[in-house]
Amino acid sequence: MSASSYAEFYRRSIDSPEAFWAEQARLIDWQTPPARILDDSRPPFVHWFAGGKTNLCHNAVDRHLAQRADQPALIHVSTETGSERTYSFGQLHEEVQRVAASLRALGVAKGDRVLIYMPMIPEAAFAMLACARIGAIHCVVFGGFASGALASRIEDAAPKVVVSADAGSRGGKVVAYKPLLDEAIRLSKHKPEAVLLTDRGLAPMELNPGRDHLDSDLAAGLKSTDVPCEWLDATDISYTIYTSGTTGRPKGVQRDTGGYAVALAASMKHIFDGRPGETYFSTSDIGWVVGQSYIVYGPLIAGMATLMYEGLPTQGMDRGPDGGIWWQLVQKYKVTVMFSAPTAVRVLKKQDPALLKKYDLSSLRALFLAGEPLDEPTARWISEGLGVPIIDNYWQTESGWPIITLASGVENKQAKFGSPGVPMYGYKVKILHESTGEELTAPNEKGVVVIEGPTPPGFMQTVWKDDDRFVNTYWKSVPGRMVYSTFDWGIRDEDGYFYILGRTDDVINVAGHRLGTREIEECISGHNGVAEVAVVGVADALKGQVAMAFAVPKDSLALTDPARALALEGEVMQRVNDELGAVARPARVRFVSALPKTRSGKLLRRAIQAVCEQRDPGDLTTMDDPTSLQQIRQLVQG
Ligand code: PRX
Repeated sequence: MSASSYAEFYRRSIDSPEAFWAEQARLIDWQTPPARILDDSRPPFVHWFAGGKTNLCHNAVDRHLAQRADQPALIHVSTETGSERTYSFGQLHEEVQRVAASLRALGVAKGDRVLIYMPMIPEAAFAMLACARIGAIHCVVFGGFASGALASRIEDAAPKVVVSADAGSRGGKVVAYKPLLDEAIRLSKHKPEAVLLTDRGLAPMELNPGRDHLDSDLAAGLKSTDVPCEWLDATDISYTIYTSGTTGRPKGVQRDTGGYAVALAASMKHIFDGRPGETYFSTSDIGWVVGQSYIVYGPLIAGMATLMYEGLPTQGMDRGPDGGIWWQLVQKYKVTVMFSAPTAVRVLKKQDPALLKKYDLSSLRALFLAGEPLDEPTARWISEGLGVPIIDNYWQTESGWPIITLASGVENKQAKFGSPGVPMYGYKVKILHESTGEELTAPNEKGVVVIEGPTPPGFMQTVWKDDDRFVNTYWKSVPGRMVYSTFDWGIRDEDGYFYILGRTDDVINVAGHRLGTREIEECISGHNGVAEVAVVGVADALKGQVAMAFAVPKDSLALTDPARALALEGEVMQRVNDELGAVARPARVRFVSALPKTRSGKLLRRAIQAVCEQRDPGDLTTMDDPTSLQQIRQLVQG
């Protein structure tokens, strides 16, 4: 292809979106082709491929049976249990149908929600695909979340059935899921009719008669496990996935069916350059958007085998330490495309660099990293170690696929350290002044990264059950402009490369996990010893950011008595652990007599964060009580 071809490709996607996406739509199978490509008559809502009928599971599984029924589809490796198993497309087809038949037996029909709370086991992928097969809306909740976080999601999604397992395992430590799930259902106002459980034999389970079913028992009683794909309208909902924002209440990001299938198929070709019959390895988790798009649907739609991994990056098959496990798997399964997060690479950086040379990595064409800023030393280290291109990609739960990166499948553009690259086809990315809404066109001016509608296929349709929240949260945050805000700061350089400079809101990013500080604050202020609390994200060399909490205790002794403070800190940490999960646990909880606020009572989180990172807190003229920030400074520096 010519040197200017990505620029041309991009132009066409923007100037002639209908022709461009009609062409991409041919990458998937349709039972009925779309009558209309783009309908954006009611902005910011967009309907892609209206009139078309298709099915995600058909495109991920059935479609490949004719050519590759015996080829690997799902490779599951767990260094937590020492298990390793490959399912061919034919076997995957059977497994998915079995779960689909079980869900049907439990009364699940098209449009019903099925909440999936699972560790990284094949049954989690079967359940997602089974839902897609019958037109049920799946809602996967990250297995690292605890009962409080799970309860609020159950309440919002109102699932008919919850799919879960006895336990997960992390670093050899078993985490029983069933008690967390039981507690979440107890806390939730909505009660699912049934719970479908996989017993891995890791933790004892008490079954609730009439409600809980073991998947093996249920399947054994089925008369038939033949479940054909339900043809869905392109605009029918495929799934929701919760993500954090500025309020404590998580948002259900809702996605369609046809647009999502096309977007993923196109991204597999143009961005990831993954080819049928090859192996794709994403180290994410099915509870995060990367896992939904690029562990389950994307690779399978492309006819690739997907490698699903349960375990730490530094743990071997014998469960002993092994910093080379991922490279061993790349060699063994001839992985061609790999996807991970900068945090994981920073963890590996602490291992013996010889591990990168120990295995034959010649199959690997590129490593994609996303989820948080990729720092230059990390990028250089892994790029030199692996000898393959390292491709940073910037996107969000909301987008479902990369917004800014390099489309290696279209053109090999030079990467620049610190930049994920350029806007992907279909995305009109702009930088706007945060208060005037004016577009910043000069190079290197910092502003808010926004997307002008119509958003491309695969992008969120709305917030589940809450169109107003979708419009008000995302499309009305820049004054005078109806544009989608990413809530990220960014700049664009003279060559059109973007640089992402962190969030504009209260979302933090801990080891690639997106967390809302408000959700953590609400959990902490529920402790009866805490009067008030502020949680901020503080830069961390390994995890990118960590959560740091500053609380005003009800008992002022915690301010002067270190033993009291330590005990209260421990209790607060435990509470976050039990309610939200270990991922949300702050690195420290420090006690202060007052929190820095404006005179009108607004918490000055940004000033707290600056002080924690030993930066200048900026203009403090509106601050009510200057000693409050001073206390924080002393704590942090002491
Ligand atoms: O702040 C940006 C950061 O992660 C946020 C989205 O997180 P999540 O919804 O979990 O989706 C992750 C999908 C990969 C963004 O708003 N972020 C994501 N990728 C990058 C990034 N920041 C800098 N560089 C990236 N490549």
